[in-house]
Amino acid sequence: MPTSPFDIETVITIAQNAGQLVLQMHRDGLRNVRGKSNDGDLVTEADLASEALIRESLYAAYPTVGFWGEESNKPPQEEFFWVVDPIDGTVNYANGLAFYAVNIGLHHGETGLLGVTVQPSTGHVFWAKRGEGAYARTPAGEQQRLYVSQVDQLAKALLTTGFPYHRAESSDNNSAEFNYFLLRAQGVRCMGSAALDLVNVASGAFAAFWEGWLNPWDVAPGALMLQEAGGLITDYNGQPWRFNSGGLIASNGQAGLHRELLEGIHTARLGLAESRLPSIS
Ligand code: IPD
Ligand code: CA
Ligand code: CA
Repeated sequence: MPTSPFDIETVITIAQNAGQLVLQMHRDGLRNVRGKSNDGDLVTEADLASEALIRESLYAAYPTVGFWGEESNKPPQEEFFWVVDPIDGTVNYANGLAFYAVNIGLHHGETGLLGVTVQPSTGHVFWAKRGEGAYARTPAGEQQRLYVSQVDQLAKALLTTGFPYHRAESSDNNSAEFNYFLLRAQGVRCMGSAALDLVNVASGAFAAFWEGWLNPWDVAPGALMLQEAGGLITDYNGQPWRFNSGGLIASNGQAGLHRELLEGIHTARLGLAESRLPSIS
C-alpha cells in the first residue's frame, strides 16, 4: 500500500494547527457547549471549528482523498480517506482537563496508512507510518521511537479503559468488565481519551486498553501506532479489529496477556442481562 504520495509532516502540521485553535478557543472561553446523546456526550464550538480546519487543510493538500470526520460523519466513498476526530476527549477538554487529543488517520479501506495524534495541552505529537514505525515528538523536536511493554501477565499489567455514553441506559456498559479487571490487574485507569489510551499502550506506559462501542475516528491513528510499536489490536473474539467490531482489545501483543484479556471479557460478560455488542463467540 503506497504511503509515499502522503507527507507525514503536512498531516502533523494540520493536526498541530487544529490543536492550537482548540487551545485558543478554550482560553477565550467556550460558548455553545451542548450534549449530543446526553450531557455526558458533549460537542463544543471547538470540535466543529477543529473539524472544519482539518477538513479544509487536508482537502487543499490532497483534493482526491475522502474525509470521514466525527462531527459531519458521512462515511466516505473514496478508496483512500482521512478518519478524523477533531477533539478526542471533549468532556475533558470542556472541563479544562489536559487529557484530550486531535486525531487524524489515513486509511485505504480498513488498512491504516498514516496516523497522527496531537496532545495540544503538552505539545506532544505521536505519529506512525505503515511499515516505518511509531514515534513520539516533544515540543522541542526530539523524537523517540515507540515500543510496547513486555508485561505478560494480567496481575502485572496496568490497564486503561473507557465507558460508553449509553452507560445509564443498559447494564451492558463495561462496568462488569471493569470490575473483573479491577480485582485482577495491577491497576485500571479511565482517562477519557481513547486516542491517548492507545498512544500510551504504544509507548509502553499501559500494558493494554479495552473498550466497547468506539468509533473509527477514536481508534484509527492509535491502532496503526500500536501495531507499529509491536502491539496487537483485536475485537472481543480475538479477530483483527475492524471499524464495526464493537469491542476492542489493544495490548502489548504478549500472547499470555492478550489471552487473559479475552478470557476476562468473556467471563465478565456471562452474567449480563442483555448485550449491546455484536455476538461474541
Ligand atoms: C470519547 C473518548 C472516551 C471514550 C468514548 C469516546 P469523544 O471520544 O475517546 O475516552 O470512552 O467512548 O467517545 O466523544 O471525546 O470524541
Ligand atoms: Ca472520540
Ligand atoms: Ca470527538
